[in-house]
Amino acid sequence: MDGLGKARQHGTQASGDNLTMQALPDTLCYLNGDYTALQDARISVLDRGFIFGDGIYEVIPVYQGRLFRFDEHLARLTRSLAEVQIANPHTPEQWRQIADTLIERNAAKATGEETVYIQVSRGVAPRDHAMTQGITPTVFAMINPLKSQSASAREQGVACVTAEDFRWKKGHIKSTSLLSAVLARQISVEAGATETILLRDGYLTEASSSNVWVVKDGRVLGAPRDGLVLEGIRYGLIETLCQEANIPFELRRISEAELRDADEVLLSSATKEVLPVSRLDGQAVGSGRPGPVYAQLYAGYQRAKQGAPAPVSNTEPTVAVTPPPAQESLIEFPSLFPIKVMGPKVEGFVETMTAIATEHDPSFEMTRVQLRDSSGGKYLSVTLTVTATSREQLDNLYRALTAHPLAKYVL
Ligand code: PDD
Repeated sequence: MDGLGKARQHGTQASGDNLTMQALPDTLCYLNGDYTALQDARISVLDRGFIFGDGIYEVIPVYQGRLFRFDEHLARLTRSLAEVQIANPHTPEQWRQIADTLIERNAAKATGEETVYIQVSRGVAPRDHAMTQGITPTVFAMINPLKSQSASAREQGVACVTAEDFRWKKGHIKSTSLLSAVLARQISVEAGATETILLRDGYLTEASSSNVWVVKDGRVLGAPRDGLVLEGIRYGLIETLCQEANIPFELRRISEAELRDADEVLLSSATKEVLPVSRLDGQAVGSGRPGPVYAQLYAGYQRAKQGAPAPVSNTEPTVAVTPPPAQESLIEFPSLFPIKVMGPKVEGFVETMTAIATEHDPSFEMTRVQLRDSSGGKYLSVTLTVTATSREQLDNLYRALTAHPLAKYVL
């Protein structure tokens, strides 16, 4: 491993069938006013975060060194602090400065996409359930690599299982008391699935660490914003992306039957962005393949990450993005790999797509570009034959192409 993922091996633990390698990242973190090596950061065993899980947290994505939706994350952090009656130890400017300093001081090890994790606990005090007054909150922040989803997860969708939602009724607080989330997630780990989707009294709430969206007849449905779900920062974002793509969006109670009868099911979170679910409890979701609403929202999400505006809607075909090419096992490296991008016949389209290809394949040259007009003459199909050297390189190239507002279709 390299970059932010570079780790000091910390022993190997065998537990039952699971052999897990514990490794601590070699990064700089923030703890109570100081920036220190993560491996050396220490808190008291009497910290109420450790003893009671008495604290709150945030996970904020960072793309190309820029915090994504930071104000929204900070607003939720402020709400969570108020809910658990911990005085906010910092102003918004101070919070931003802590996050920016972490990004800056870890930049040499950055991989381009990270998350900033912030945690505030009530502080250190003799063990007593009652909220101790007058203690100083413990503030901790660190940076982690944002592990992007595999190409096959995006192309084929992921498997999920369902379980009864046995968590508490204050799910709107982003609390560090996560034992129920850990137990819920483990159900899917043991089933070899990506997430555990939770049902309370026959209605969908969310998943162990993501929100869940149901698509039916072209409409996106989500559970209401109440105490039974954590309102992800992507709640607002998905609503906006739906508006931009003219997709009806509705928050209401969703029955188990509706979940199982969905055309598409999607997960969203800071780390998953938006992810298609193709199997639920072993049954196909809809067609069993990621659907068109996922493709639109994923493309919109990639644009939002780049800070690019939504394409102006017109009478021409809507943005349609096909998830990444062929399965891992089918590609040999290195090999020549054709990628087809469809876009409007406007000045700069071919040059921009070629520049993106060159960024990801330095050996790329113009002789490897093929152009074809669409029958109506308004669109151009550009085939870029790149030298594929790794799955990761293809993923990154695919992401960069789909994120560009001029790319309407990438195959
Ligand atoms: N989890 N619901 C739950 C229970 C979550 O834990 C999360 C996020 C979400 C999605 O929220 P957002 O869109 O703001 O990431 C919904 C984070 C990523 C975590 O605990 O690591």
